[in-house]
Amino acid sequence: MRVLVTGGAGYIGSITVRHLLDHGHSVAVLDSLERGHAAAVDPRAWLIQGSVGDFALLDDVLPDVDVVVHCAGYIEVAESQRDPDLYYRKNLAEPSRMLDRMVRCGVRKLVFSSTAAVYGEPDRMPIAEDSPCHPVNVYGASKLAFERLIEVSEATGALEAVRFRYFNVAGAWPDGSMGEAHDPESHIVPRLLRVAASGEGAFTLFGTDYPTPDGTCVRDYIHVLDLAEAHRRAVEYLGNDGDPVVCNLGSGRGYSNREVVEMCSRVVGADIRVEEGPRRDGDPPALIASNRVAGRVLGWRPERDLQTMVRDAWAWHQAHPRGYEGLRAPLAADTPDRGTGPAAPAAGSLATTNLL
Ligand SMILES: NC(=O)c1ccc[n+]([C@@H]2O[C@H](COP(=O)([O-])OP(=O)(O)OC[C@H]3O[C@@H](n4cnc5c(N)ncnc54)[C@H](O)[C@@H]3O)[C@@H](O)[C@H]2O)c1
Repeated sequence: MRVLVTGGAGYIGSITVRHLLDHGHSVAVLDSLERGHAAAVDPRAWLIQGSVGDFALLDDVLPDVDVVVHCAGYIEVAESQRDPDLYYRKNLAEPSRMLDRMVRCGVRKLVFSSTAAVYGEPDRMPIAEDSPCHPVNVYGASKLAFERLIEVSEATGALEAVRFRYFNVAGAWPDGSMGEAHDPESHIVPRLLRVAASGEGAFTLFGTDYPTPDGTCVRDYIHVLDLAEAHRRAVEYLGNDGDPVVCNLGSGRGYSNREVVEMCSRVVGADIRVEEGPRRDGDPPALIASNRVAGRVLGWRPERDLQTMVRDAWAWHQAHPRGYEGLRAPLAADTPDRGTGPAAPAAGSLATTNLL
């Protein structure tokens, strides 16, 4: 299939791009690079620098695309609480322009990176896809709003989408060559590993008075490569005219923050200094997925456990303590094997296109 991955220079998008390429798909990446890294994009893919809200760019690229995998977005809960307008712009308004162009260009298939944050604070665990959605932060609300827009296009028959609600994504490409490089980093595993690697400062545990067995938040962790495999299956499912579906992507097992601290300490072979802080705004006590729908519809099962996630993330952090900083973005001339499509826009034909 000819796949356009938006946000393909980010953590999840870049690993999904490599996984899709390894399975014979042709991939173009559309990323503004405002929060991603050109060096994270596999040289076999076309990197187009631009926004998912850019009509002219989309009109040039979309006619050669079979499926859009939409990973682009802003992901910080705390930032979303401080700046709701930014989150509605990045996670709803700009992607809604892409949806408009997809429909006009006849691209009917979409895989969307949604989040467990759409559920808010559900009272029943594990969380099934038909649980009520009452997000407790702006980030979750902005992702849910885009889901609603997808539903409208599906109802008119203009679109078939697989909406993935990711739980907590962790890990790296298993040889440590690609991984998570957010700035600032709010995710627990990389934050712990940074403290472990530097030997400086302390990891702050946000909230120790939650109604959970050890007082810290409980989350469901999923390896980023298991996530990428779900995307590959979704692309092929839509290619075979699969019906629209919403799937949680999680392991079905919860770990408390204290358990994650212990796992990280075990993997790095040293205690990690921890200090206790107040709760973060908008953090529900527990989120654990039911992953039955993904199993039934896509035949997907997570294969890697928390220890593997931490081990792979640790390999990435040790090899790349500054993330992608200083790594060279691959040049087009260096990359002979780009596959047959989506067609690369001719160099210079698009003001906003920057083929690297
Ligand atoms: N990381 C997680 O644990 C997690 C959990 C649930 C859901 N998600 C969702 O998964 C997706 C990817 O997350 P990630 O961790 O890889 O994030 P990331 O920040 O690493 O990657 C996002 C990418 O999108 C790009 N981008 C942002 N706005 C854009 C725009 N308007 N046009 C083009 N490119 C744009 C950024 O430059 C960046 O490369 C997000 O949509 C997020 O909501 C992530």
